[in-house]
Amino acid sequence: MSTILVVDDEKGIREVLQDVLGDEGHRVIAVEDGFRALEILEEGIADLVILDVWLPNMGGIDVLKRIRERWPEIEVVVISGHANINMAVQAVKIGAFDFLEKPLSLEKTITVVENALKMEELKRENRSLKQSLLFEDEMIGSGAGMKAVRELIEQSADSEARILILGENGTGKELVAREIHRRSSRAQAPFVEVNCASIPETLIESELFGHEKGAFTDAHARRKGKFELAHGGTLFLDEIADMSLNTQAKVLRVLQEMKFERIGSEKSISVDVRVIAATNKNIQEEIRAGRFREDLYFRINVIPIHVPPLRERIDDLPALIEYFMGKFNRSGEAPQRQFSADSLQLLRTYSWPGNIRELKNFVERINIMSEETVISADSVRRFLTSRTDWEKDELLKGFESMKLNEAKDEFEREFLVKKLDENEQNITRTSRALGITPSHLHNKIKKHGIEIKK
Ligand SMILES: Nc1ncnc2c1ncn2[C@@H]1O[C@H](COP(=O)(O)OP(=O)(O)OP(=O)(O)O)[C@@H](O)[C@H]1O
Ligand SMILES: [Mg+2]
Repeated sequence: MSTILVVDDEKGIREVLQDVLGDEGHRVIAVEDGFRALEILEEGIADLVILDVWLPNMGGIDVLKRIRERWPEIEVVVISGHANINMAVQAVKIGAFDFLEKPLSLEKTITVVENALKMEELKRENRSLKQSLLFEDEMIGSGAGMKAVRELIEQSADSEARILILGENGTGKELVAREIHRRSSRAQAPFVEVNCASIPETLIESELFGHEKGAFTDAHARRKGKFELAHGGTLFLDEIADMSLNTQAKVLRVLQEMKFERIGSEKSISVDVRVIAATNKNIQEEIRAGRFREDLYFRINVIPIHVPPLRERIDDLPALIEYFMGKFNRSGEAPQRQFSADSLQLLRTYSWPGNIRELKNFVERINIMSEETVISADSVRRFLTSRTDWEKDELLKGFESMKLNEAKDEFEREFLVKKLDENEQNITRTSRALGITPSHLHNKIKKHGIEIKK
């Protein structure tokens, strides 16, 4: 069912269109002037506009221009009388889909409306196709870790089961969620994402459930919430552990009943939505600390999918690098650049705290910044995001296999030797630099068997 906005100052026309299009199964909202029409569009509920070019107050052409600017995805069909047919032609030139001449032929009206709606759908499909081609990555990786993830996606996609995706930052949780949606029977319906961490606490309920005009100070117009927008499709609740307990209680209720109210309204809205949630937090820990409701956890965690960090699937690294190199290779530049063997080795030992996102950014950066055809280990060191992390990694390398006490002792010994060297083996000065007493320093020198070079 589409919602069609009819804008005409003639009552007769409004009524006819309401009847005819209503019979065709559409919802029709009819208003008499341009200002009111723009208000309705602001609410985001109209799919198509039928607009009289000759309107009081704001003229139809001006309204059309505003719609083209602000809502390029909405088609506009104009109506004109015989006397101002040239305005209708002008309207088509500036982007109206088609025009209808008064007196309206019902048959023609229905055909034009159906065509316009079809056009919108095509445009929408085209856009989402383009978007997925341009921005969305393929899921790369064939090692055991990703294989397990793929299998789970395969098994769960077509069920209606709720899924909880767990994994560190940048491991590809959102990519997994989109893949599940794409392989589900809901693929043609919307995939709607809500990032629970980035929306202020005061706005999240309106974001999720929508609001009526005037429900609160800033609610200038009615607005649909994400649950409503995802009707028939998938709602992706990202960073779900960052939701306040208060919001968690409300979301729990919706998940139990699949019903909710817009803020400022008593009317219940029922929706058919599949929920996929994700978090990079340790959710068990959040539950223990009382920050996440256990009952909500059970509701969302029907099938858990753990996306492993890159360091635990480092065998996927070459394939990922090749994929991103292809993506970021400056166009027309051939042959594609390569990483040297030792630079690849270096990348394998790095811990990748930002996971695939960090790798992707790194490859993009190195493609822009480095001129080498074979990228050296030196460049890799230079362009790796968190050089500090890298250096920390290097620093800690010698300690990796030790127990904490061993590591502490080892560090203390190295540190004392260095400080003694810096202070020419002078005990008083060294102890001052270390912030301990000379006798304390003596004890430590003895403990570690450090030789004082005199
Ligand atoms: N297996 C993969 N193959 C190719 N690209 C990937 C893969 N996994 C993730 N990416 C890309 O890495 C980036 C980060 O992925 P995504 O946003 O899905 O991670 P996330 O787990 O949701 O991160 P965050 O916890 O920060 O929200 C995206 O650009 C995504 O396309
Ligand atoms: Mg994410």
